[in-house]
Amino acid sequence: MSTQPQVDVVGRPLPDFPVPAPLPSHGPARVIAMCNQKGGVGKTTTTINLAAALAEYGRRVLVVDFDPQGAASVGLGINPHELELTVYNLLMDRNARLEEVVRTTGVEGLDLLPANIDLSAAEVQLVGEVARESILARVLRPALDDYDVVLVDCQPSLGLLTVNALTAAHGVLIPLECEFFALRGVALLVETIDKVRDRLNPRLEVDGILATMYDARTLHAREVVARVHEAFGDTLLQTVIGRTVKFPDATVAAEPITSYAPTHAGAIAYRQLARELIARGDAA
Ligand SMILES: Nc1ncnc2c1ncn2[C@@H]1O[C@H](COP(=O)(O)OP(=O)(O)O)[C@@H](O)[C@H]1O
Ligand SMILES: [Mg+2]
Repeated sequence: MSTQPQVDVVGRPLPDFPVPAPLPSHGPARVIAMCNQKGGVGKTTTTINLAAALAEYGRRVLVVDFDPQGAASVGLGINPHELELTVYNLLMDRNARLEEVVRTTGVEGLDLLPANIDLSAAEVQLVGEVARESILARVLRPALDDYDVVLVDCQPSLGLLTVNALTAAHGVLIPLECEFFALRGVALLVETIDKVRDRLNPRLEVDGILATMYDARTLHAREVVARVHEAFGDTLLQTVIGRTVKFPDATVAAEPITSYAPTHAGAIAYRQLARELIARGDAA
C-alpha cells in the first residue's frame, strides 16, 4: 500500500473529507442552483446523485426540477407527464400549495418538486408579473424549514427560469464537462451570476465548479481541469466525477447511482462531493 499523501487531479492535497455528524434537527435549508447554460454537462446527474448522497448522510433534501424536460423527475422515478400538479402550478397560481406538489421518492429523506413540459410556458407567462425574478424564491419559502438542502436543477439556458433559480439560491454549483470547449460560456454564466447578485440577490455565491465526465486515461481531460484551476483557483472542487456508462444506466433504472450501484466509483465520487460541500460549509 502506498503511503503517499493523496492529491487531487490538479495536485492539491486531498483531505479525507470526514463523514459528517448527523444533524440534531433540520432546516433552514441552503438553496443551491445547479447551473450551466450548456446542455449535457451533468447538471441533472449531479442534482440527483448529490441529493441522494446528502440524504444518505441524514440530510433532508428537496430537489426542484426546474427544467421542462423533467429529467430530474424521471431520474428519481416519477413520471411527470402523468402529474396534475408540478412546480409550474406553484409559479403561476398563488393559491397552489407546495405540500400538494411535493412528492416523496425511493430515497429516504429525498423529496421532489416535479416539472414537466408545462414549465416551458412559464418563461413567457411570467414576463408580465410583478417581481417576476423572485417567484421561485417565494414558492420555496414555506419549505425551507423542513429541509437542510434544496437543489434546483436548472434548464440549459440563462432565461427567466434560471434567473429565478439564481434569485432563490444561496449558492451556485457549475458542472463542467471535461471537454476542450467546456470553458466557453462560463464567462457569460459568471456575468449572469454577478448581475443577479448586484440587482436581485446579494447573498449569492459561486459554491464551486465541478469537473464531470472526467476520463483519467486522456491527457486532454487532465489539461481541461488544469485550465479550469488556473482560471478559477479553489472554486474548482477537488472532487471530480469520472465518465462512466453507469450514470446513463442508473437514469434508465430511474434511480440514483448511490442505490443503483452503491459501491461503484461514481457513487463513491458523489458521496465525496457531498462530504466536500459539507466540509466547505456549502451544505448543512
Ligand atoms: N459522469 C458521467 N459519465 C458518463 N455519462 C454521464 C455522466 N454524467 C452524466 N452523464 C450522461 O450524460 C447525459 C447528460 O447528462 P445530464 O446530467 O442530463 O446533463 P444536463 O442536465 O447538464 O443536460 C445523460 O445521458 C447522463 O446520463
Ligand atoms: Mg438536465
